[in-house]
Parts: sequence; C-alpha cells; structure tokens
Amino acid sequence: MPKISSQTIDEVNSQTDIVSLISEYVHLQKRGSDYWGCCPFHNEKTPSFSVSPDKKIYYCFGCLKGGSVISFYKEIEKVSFYDAVHALAKRTGIQIIYDGNVKENKEEEQQYKYKKDLLELYKKVAGMFNYFLVSTEMGKKALDYIKNRGVTEQIINEFQLGYSPSDRYWLKKFLLEKNYSAEFLENSGLFSKNYNNVSFFSDRLMFPICNRNGEVIAFGGRILTDQKPKYLNTGDLPQYKKGETLYAFHLAKEAIRRTESVIFCEGYMDVIAYHQAGICQAVAPLGTALTENQVSTIKPLVKTVYLSFDGDSAGMNATYKAILLCRKADLSVKIIDINSFFQNSSQKPKDPADILLNFGAQTLTDIINNSIFDCDFLLNKLAKMYPVETSEGKTQAALDFFPYIDALQSAIQKESCFELLAQTFGLNLTAVKSDFENRDAARKRAEIGAKKSLNNIQTQDIIKKNAELRAVLAVVAHMDSFPEMRSLLSPDDFEEPLAKELYFILEECFREEAASYDSILSKCEDERLKKLVTETIVSKEFEINSEKTIEDSINLLKKRSLERKRTRLINKIRLWKGSTLEDFQELQKMQSEKISIDNELEKKDTKE
Ligand code: UTP
Ligand code: MN
Repeated sequence: MPKISSQTIDEVNSQTDIVSLISEYVHLQKRGSDYWGCCPFHNEKTPSFSVSPDKKIYYCFGCLKGGSVISFYKEIEKVSFYDAVHALAKRTGIQIIYDGNVKENKEEEQQYKYKKDLLELYKKVAGMFNYFLVSTEMGKKALDYIKNRGVTEQIINEFQLGYSPSDRYWLKKFLLEKNYSAEFLENSGLFSKNYNNVSFFSDRLMFPICNRNGEVIAFGGRILTDQKPKYLNTGDLPQYKKGETLYAFHLAKEAIRRTESVIFCEGYMDVIAYHQAGICQAVAPLGTALTENQVSTIKPLVKTVYLSFDGDSAGMNATYKAILLCRKADLSVKIIDINSFFQNSSQKPKDPADILLNFGAQTLTDIINNSIFDCDFLLNKLAKMYPVETSEGKTQAALDFFPYIDALQSAIQKESCFELLAQTFGLNLTAVKSDFENRDAARKRAEIGAKKSLNNIQTQDIIKKNAELRAVLAVVAHMDSFPEMRSLLSPDDFEEPLAKELYFILEECFREEAASYDSILSKCEDERLKKLVTETIVSKEFEINSEKTIEDSINLLKKRSLERKRTRLINKIRLWKGSTLEDFQELQKMQSEKISIDNELEKKDTKE
C-alpha cells in the first residue's frame, strides 16, 4: 500500500485556510495579525488559544497544544493522520500523491476506505428515499403526512426527508444490482441483524442524520401510524456514534456561530419546526440524554444554551441533567418553558412542532424571548415540588439545588446563587453555605427527617395552611371580598399551587355569577382542596375579624410576591452578560423595574 507523499502533506498544510477551518469549531476574534478564541481542547473562560494565519499553526498557551491544520483536524475529529489528510485534501481540492514504494499503515488506510464507502452508500440511499418521497406514488402517503404537519417543500428538501419502501426486500436487491458486496451490506446498518436481506427501515418517513460536513451517516425513521416504536434509529457504526452527533448541526452551525447560541430540543420534528420558523440554531441529541461530547461540540462557538425539552417528567429530568452539563462547561443556560408560557391559555401545545403548526412562527420567537435563566427555573420548580413552608421542605429544596451551585464555574455566580437560594426560601445564608459544605451529611439528615415527616403526613393528613392558602380560604368564607382580592392580586402573586388553583376557581365562579359554596366545591378537582374548602366552611375559622384578616393577608402576599420579583431581578442583573445595545436596553429596563418595585415596597413598609 502506498504512503502519502511528503509533497501532499506540505500542500495540505500550506493550502488549507487555517482560520476558516478552525472557525468551524471555535469562535475566533482577530487581534493584530493573529486570531484568538477559547481552546476547544481544554475548559477555559478567557481565550488563550491562538491561530496564526502567517505561520499556519495554532497554539494554546493554556494547555500547550499546537500544530498544523492536519494535527488540529486529527485531534478535534479524533481521526487518524491518514483520515485527516484525506479529509483536508478533499476540502481544499488537492490531488493526493502517494510514494510508490514505501509501505503505509495498512489498517489506517483500510479504515478510511471503509468509512468512505459507507458514506457513499448512505448518500445514495438517502437520495433514493428522498426521490421516493417527493416523486413517486408509493411515497405519497408519507408526503401527505409530513405536509399535513405543516412542513414545507423547502424544508423537505433542505433536510432531505425521504420515504423507505414498504417492500422489505427492495433495498437489498437494488444495492446488490449496483454491485455492492453482500458482506459490506450486511454490516452497513441498513439491514436487520437477524435477517440480512430485510431492510431495517420500511414504510417509514426517513430523516437522514448528517455529520458536520452534511454527509449522511445514519437515519431515523418515523412510523406513519400510531404503532410503536414511533422512531427507529441507526445504531452506532464506524462513521456514526449517536452520543457524538447532533441532529442538523450541519444546517445549524452558521446560525450557531452568528447568534453565539444554540437551542437543544428533543427530536427530529422539533428541530425542523424551529428551522422552518427561521430559528436555525436548533439541534437535537439523538434519542438519548445530552452528552458531554455534544456540549463540547458547541461550547467553543456559543455563550448561551437554550434548552427546549418537553414539559413532562422525562423532559424535566433531561432539562435538569442538561443544565448541570452546560454549567460545568461554563455556558450560560436559559430554559424555554412551553408549559408556563401557555399556562393561562386554553390550548396547551406539547412541543415546538405543535406550536409552529397551531400558533405560527412568531409564537416560537416569542417563547424564546420569554425564556428564563436556569436558576430561576430550578427554584420555581423546587418550590412546587417540596412543601417549602416547612423546614424539611426547605432543606430538601436546598439539597436539590446544591448540585447546580456545584456545577457553576465562577465564585461570583456561586455566591449570588447562595443568596438567591437563601432569599427564595427564607433561609439563613450562613446556614445554607455550611449545609453546602457538608452536603453529604446534610442529605443523610434530610433522609431521616423525610421519613419522619412522611409518617406525620400519613397519620395527620394535613396540608399546612400557609399565608396564601389562608388568604384565599378567608375569601371563600367571605365571598363578597373577592373583588377586592382580585383588584389587588393576580394569579402570578401566588406560589402555592393549591392556593393558585382556588383563586382561579373563585375567578370562574364570579365570572359565571355563581359564587356559592356549591359551585366552588363542584369546581374543586383536587381532593385536598375540596377538603380544605369544606373544613373552612364548617369550621367558622374566619368568622372573627374577617375584614382585617383578609386585608392583612392580601398585603402580605403582595409584599412577598414583590420581594420574590425583586430578588430575581437583582440576581438577573448581577448575572447579566449581554454586550449589544439591545442587551443594554434590557438591562436598563430591569433596573428601572427594580427601582419601581423598591418604591412600592417602601410604601408598603411605611403603611404598616
Ligand atoms: P418524541 O416522542 O417527543 O417525538 O421523541 P417527536 O420528535 O416529537 O416526534 P413526533 O412529533 O411525534 O413526530 C423525541 C425524540 O426521541 C427519539 C427521537 O429522536 C425523537 O425525535 N425517539 C422517540 C426515538 O428514538 N424512538 C422513539 O420511539 C421515540
Ligand atoms: Mn412532537
């Protein structure tokens, strides 16, 4: 086997545009005659990675890695020297010349040839599938299906969507006729492992999966009915590792670089929805949790990661894990929370594809603009998950928040999150920090405590009536004061889910002019709420001094709500990272909002 000539190696090194190559992986900025960015080979916050277009080398002053374009490509793509030279030669259009008589590493060359053949095969098959979808009668039902989901021809084209024939034997016959060897096809990932004449995909809408250069390396296939499994995906192959690939990265990389942000969403259709809405920085991990490798792919290009996973419990878990991964990589994280965006709407779309179809592109943009920082999102969730009125609840919430603080990469960020945690749940800052330092022991203590409090709940079956619940229950007992409550408080002022629900029920009763105990009870779906309302009605708890009780609790709620808002604003301002004029204007907006909250709070204090 021939060896690549030194002439070719020199040519590749001198003719490849090193800045444009490395720019595909790292956000570079020009300083003097060199370019600088954050090193893709180690974790850093300030750029110590330099690229010299004159010398045609890169060098990192942090981890001391450096070399030519070939060594960069080898290192970043984790491929052999042989692969790197071939890939770069192809990119620059260099004809490879071999030394006739010297033996080359045979294994490297064979590996390279095998991968190249697989790429050609996948390209051909994707082309066929696409043809079947857009131009044949047999693909018509798949085409109707995808068009019914609102996907345009342009997107079908761009994503090269396809249709795999229902005849499970067609593909094998077709490829054998094209002179592919049976052995090569057997291991290509396109056929069933047990029956190697049978196609792995049949009668499915096909989503080609590409590498960063846009070469097809695998497929996902969606069934057109309600049967399961909904999606089939190619397993790992020499050219495809699912944990190292991001769906649509080749179509997203320009937008990712331009916006210095990325949107991670759940699957094929969600990515397509964002792109169709013109939001092209969306990609998806492939049917698994987000991996460190996938984060490291986008890390040198972006400042902010947007997470757009489903609102169900699986999506919530995925979000939590992704937050920790991204924060460990020192990326800023914002959450696109569909549930809360649509919480007061009668229609509840489930994912971005749903939103595009039923609400249009502008709503997808709006929802991104309404995304919130991960810390606010987590604290909101924790407040709903645990009875944070009790000290056990507070401890549990804090323990769940500690891994997040742990993942933060700057001392300032950690500090401000300690404060945020303490303020949100009314904890002592020093105690929070000491619990953080001893978090293993604190967790053990909390586990014992949780068992105890679980026993309590079982035996006493009580819901602690916190201030919010007391306020709405008092209004249930004196319904004529609801208009006053309604004029002073909005649903957003409630944190406690049961209290908020009861507020909505009262609202509904008033709108229907049916403010009776009966109609309130008939609207209570939650058994616990029903019990509380019944107890309130029979116990006469709120009979004495009711007006004062109601007025005081409304005041208290309003104050707490303002304080929560204020805390969040302060922390947002503190963590603010923007640089554009719009960023600055938003910062100003937040500052003036904070001042007006300060004034309002001051007024309340003087009244008291
Ligand atoms: P979803 O069930 O949310 O699918 O799974 P989806 O993308 O919204 O698809 P539609 O809208 O119903 O067509 C999210 C992702 O999980 C993977 C796929 O990558 C999918 O896009 N998945 C899901 C599978 O790999 N296999 C399955 O059976 C289901
Ligand atoms: Mn979907």
